[in-house]
Amino acid sequence: MAAEGRKRIGRAPLLLMGMGCLVAGVWGGLVRLPLNMPLPGGNANWLSFHGPLMVCGFLGTVIGLERAVGLRGWWTYVAPLLTGMGASMVVAGMMGRVPVAFIAAGSLWFWVVTLWVVKLQRVTFTMVMSAGALAWAVGNVCWWAGWPFNRVVPWWIAFLALTIVGERLDLSRFQKQSKWSRPLLYAALGLFVGGVVLASIKQVPGERLTGLGLLALAGWLGRFDLARRTIRQPGLPRFMAVCLLAGYVWLALAGLLMTVFSPLESGLRYDATLHSFFLGFVFSMIFGHAPVIFPAVLVLQPSFRLTFYSHVVLLHLAVLLRVGSDVVKWGPGRQWGGIASALAIGLFLANTITSFVVPVRPKVKLARTV
Ligand code: HEM
Repeated sequence: MAAEGRKRIGRAPLLLMGMGCLVAGVWGGLVRLPLNMPLPGGNANWLSFHGPLMVCGFLGTVIGLERAVGLRGWWTYVAPLLTGMGASMVVAGMMGRVPVAFIAAGSLWFWVVTLWVVKLQRVTFTMVMSAGALAWAVGNVCWWAGWPFNRVVPWWIAFLALTIVGERLDLSRFQKQSKWSRPLLYAALGLFVGGVVLASIKQVPGERLTGLGLLALAGWLGRFDLARRTIRQPGLPRFMAVCLLAGYVWLALAGLLMTVFSPLESGLRYDATLHSFFLGFVFSMIFGHAPVIFPAVLVLQPSFRLTFYSHVVLLHLAVLLRVGSDVVKWGPGRQWGGIASALAIGLFLANTITSFVVPVRPKVKLARTV
């Protein structure tokens, strides 16, 4: 028990760095809506680096930590340590290439970790995840080399899309496969990865192909994922399946928007495409997997309760309002949608923490009197 406590304490600083980036990133995103909020210490980095704080500082660090916890080698913790440190420097207001170099180095290290996993287990899902880690590293090196964020974004999208597809393949691997499942998966992955690479050379055709690839991946996940079966089971399996299937709808919409709205530069179309993916898809996946991932990282008992549906419903309504308002160019709707997304993330954290701190009360059975 003492050893588990020590592990939890050792992981806490990395988790805190990731969470700090989430808070600063969401804060900066709200100011960019625009909302009239003060920036703590007048730190404009929260605003300018909203995207990288969310993708690299929060998601990258937490994903790196989750992988390190599963692998149990001290050297695997170096990846989240480097990305967490670099992103914390950005949060603290540091400018220039040093923090970006830390983040790029951390993501390269993470790629090495995933290659090691491929060496241990040479199967499709480990390779897909490793390709995701490579995409993240490529994007971060491009950022370090001075590329604008809108040209780096396809690589960050690839990092998260491939990581999540790999994770789903891992969890669905004991399911009976149809003979079409693998060829269709490889075709969708080829389309998507080809699009991401092309987008760095020729933006519009590359982004359109990336969008089609996202659509194909959403179709594949929606058709072959285990979630279609587990939605019929009560409790946690159904909750996870609802999050996953709703997330695939956002993934498809992000693909459609990317195909139609390319070139992605800035403004409402950029906002709609990016947040369909990052908030609608990625956060739905996080909400779905959190009841099993947090306990694994923090060595706590998994706990699920029906109140978890509250943050899921709020998130999807919020993203719907935001993306819909972006498309019809309705400023107040976009602002309220942005605020509600931030509230959904806050509610998610509150519900998750409460589930660990307040034990579930056993249902009281009334004695039969007749
Ligand atoms: C929680 C609520 C959020 C709010 C209020 C918010 C707000 C914004 C705004 C206003 C923009 C600028 C769009 C434009 O160019 O007009 C933006 C860009 C962006 N957001 Fe968010 N966002 C949120 C969540 C997220 C999440 C969860 C992620 C990723 C996981 C994310 C990633 C990005 C990225 C990558 C960009 C592009 C950055 C750039 O080009 O500088 N956002 N966001």
